[in-house]
Parts: sequence; C-alpha cells; structure tokens
Amino acid sequence: MDYLEFFDLKENPFRLTPDPFYFYPSGSHNEALSSFNYIVEQKEGFFMCTGEPGTGKTTLLNTFLNTDRWKDRAGIALVLTPRLSPEEFLLTVLEDLNVKVKNTNKNEIIRAFRDFLIENSMFGRRIIIIVDEAQNLPDETLEELRLLSNLETEKEKLLQIVLIGQPELRSRLFSENLKQLNQRITVRTTLMPLTINEASDYINYRLVKAGKGNVVFEDRAKRFIHKLSKGIPRLINLICSRAMMAAYLDMSRQVKKRHVEYAIRHISDVAMPVVKRRKVLKASLLAALLITAFAIAIIMNYDLHITPVADSTHRADRQDAVVKEPPKVDAVNTDKLPGPGIDITARQKTLIVVADTANLRTEPSINAETVTPASKGKVFEITDEFTEIGGRKWYKVKTSEGKEGWIADKAVRLEQGTVPELRAKP
Ligand SMILES: Nc1ncnc2c1ncn2[C@@H]1O[C@H](COP(=O)(O)OP(=O)(O)O)[C@@H](O)[C@H]1O
Ligand SMILES: [Mg+2]
Repeated sequence: MDYLEFFDLKENPFRLTPDPFYFYPSGSHNEALSSFNYIVEQKEGFFMCTGEPGTGKTTLLNTFLNTDRWKDRAGIALVLTPRLSPEEFLLTVLEDLNVKVKNTNKNEIIRAFRDFLIENSMFGRRIIIIVDEAQNLPDETLEELRLLSNLETEKEKLLQIVLIGQPELRSRLFSENLKQLNQRITVRTTLMPLTINEASDYINYRLVKAGKGNVVFEDRAKRFIHKLSKGIPRLINLICSRAMMAAYLDMSRQVKKRHVEYAIRHISDVAMPVVKRRKVLKASLLAALLITAFAIAIIMNYDLHITPVADSTHRADRQDAVVKEPPKVDAVNTDKLPGPGIDITARQKTLIVVADTANLRTEPSINAETVTPASKGKVFEITDEFTEIGGRKWYKVKTSEGKEGWIADKAVRLEQGTVPELRAKP
C-alpha cells in the first residue's frame, strides 16, 4: 500500500506549488485578494503586495488570474523574470499583450503601447501589467513603469500596474530615486504569516482539498508545526509533507508531535534555515541523548523501565522524541522513504549532471529558487536526498565554491567513487 492509499488521499496535500485550487483565504490573503480585484475594478492605477518568501504571493497571483472575473474584461501582461532593462521590459509586455511594433525604438514602442491602451479603453477593457518578484526590477525599469503609469486620458488611468515582491521592494521604494514611484502606489498590502488558528485551519483545509482521507494532525503536532514554521505556509507544507511520511512509516494515521520532530530533522538546512538552527537543536540533542541512552541500555542489558528517570511525568515526552523504527512490512515502499544523509554516503555518494540544462535549487522542488545553474558533466557529492510524494527524487549537493542546493534526479546519473576520482575521469 503506498502513501496516498494509506491515507486515502487523491494527491499530496502539501505540494510546494502555488496552486490556486488550494488557496486558503487567511485574514491577510483574503484582504490582499480583495484589494487586488478592487484596484483593477476601480482602475486605481498602482497596487503593491509584499510578503516574506513562502507567504503565498505567487499563489495569490495565480488565484487572481484563475478567476473568470477578468477573462474577457482585461488584457494581462505577466512578467515573472523581472531582471529586465526598460526596453526589454516594454518588449516583453507588448509581446504578452500581442501588440506588434514595427521597430524597437523606445519612442515607437511607447507610441504603439499608448494607441493600444486607448483602443482598449474605448471598449472598456482593462490592461494590467503584473510583475512577480518585483524586488528584482532594476531602478531604471521601475522608473519606466512609473512613466507608463502616467498614460491616462482626462477621465481615467489607462493602465493598472501590480507589483508583487519581497519586503525589500517596499524598502527600496523609499530611496530618493524611487520616491516618485512610491507616491504613485495607491493600494499596498502585506501578506502575513498565518496565526496559530489559521495554520491549524490551513492544514485541515489542504487535507480536505486533497480528498480528506483519513489522516488527522493532532493538535499538539499542529501547534509545534506553527511554532517551527513561524506560520509561513511554504514551511508548513514542507514540515507537514515530511511529518506525514514519518507517520506513514510508523503505520499511524494520526500525525503526532514525534512525527513532526522526525520530519524537521530531515529537512535540509537550506529549506529551513532559521527554524532548524534555533528551534530544533534542542530537540535533536535530546533525541541524540535518548538514542545513546537506549543504545547503552541495550548493550548493558538494562530494562529501561527501571532506569532512574528524574521526573516520570516527562518520560512520555522524551520517548515521544524518538520515532520508532520503520515497520518491516512489504507494504512500505522503500523507494519513497525520506532520505537522511547518512544512508547515502554508505551507498552511492556522487552524481554527474547529464542534462544539458539543470539548476541547483534552494529546496527539493521545481518551484524553488535557483541557487546556481549546474552544467553538464559536473560531478557533485550527495549530502542528502528527498523523494517527493509523487515519486520525483532530489539530491542535495555542494559545489566546489561551497554553495548548496538540490538537483532533480532526472538531470543526473549516480556514480560510484569520490568526486576527485570522477572529476579526473576523461
Ligand atoms: N493562502 C494560501 N493558501 C494555500 N496555500 C498557500 C497559501 N499561501 C502559500 N501557500 C503555499 O505555500 C507555498 C509557497 O507559496 P508561494 O505562493 O510560492 O509563496 P511566495 O510566492 O510568497 O514565495 C506553496 O506551496 C503554496 O501552495
Ligand atoms: Mg513567489
């Protein structure tokens, strides 16, 4: 029986994709979506939405785009790779809106764009430019956007502009050369991490969306997940995914605090930078101590129940911190086990990039940001591995410059031997 069958789910409820189907309207997400729709409806001009990475900006954007509300009433240019010069930016926007320009002279581009806007305005059709990851826009391109926002008739703005980005976007706009743009922004909103109640609802909501199934997260586990993730949805998903895997290995349909503890120990430092270091160190130390104590007890043939424990009320908690060994049943498909790094070094520990284009990513997900490209023929040592519930496998590797990231299995071939040996191979 595989993972999904075991929990009676249609799909993994905690995938790391910004899928509008799973959009959970928390207080701040709901407010942001209403503002987004309002500004377009009212032709208000400029809208900015900021939030820490993983708070749901792209999910919000996809939810906005997914509704039928604007389908026939708006032309939308979506810019997802904003490191563009003003000219490149304008051309991308025009291409997205299907506007043909005779030559790429900037004045000509702007004239063509203005004509296009006026024509659309006569038919009551809105034109919206949306930029995701807008903190990456160069200053000159932001300034160009401001100039575009000047395009208006006597009655109304011809263009709605939506900037979505990380908090540094907000702070950048306070700089002297972007002050004018800052003043243009009519509505701004911030996506906040989920509160403890929202996080609990969020987990249930995603489970229901994925088919409800028969899995239950205990309250204690949910509170712990909220504490570890600080309410950031992406981190909640990462932890929940791993915790469910731990529960599955434990043949438990209840996800308990100890499964969360197991999960957090096997999530990469890159994926959970702050949380792991600060909060989990204590739990890991405790777990390590307990494992050592168990080992010593077994070696010395002690019965653990008569081993003196200072405070018996804490014993259950402490034992909770150790996840039982995975059951040795045929039903468990070992290909799908989460991969602690230690196992890998004993097996195949190096890989070679075979794809023409591949990237190292910050997390084991196709949606995670790129750390660095990995060119064909590069050899890396594997330090961890992770299998997505859908079956795709990822390897964590370290580059010779010391950068760490995750690479998808289909881009690589596993090799026997050390990195220097393989690099030396012709
Ligand atoms: N309001 C929400 N409802 C459902 N899932 C969310 C929500 N906010 C974030 N997520 C989930 O969190 C993860 C990260 O969201 P994403 O939109 O990519 O964040 P950001 O763009 O802010 O970095 C995705 O898996 C997404 O499904
Ligand atoms: Mg995003």
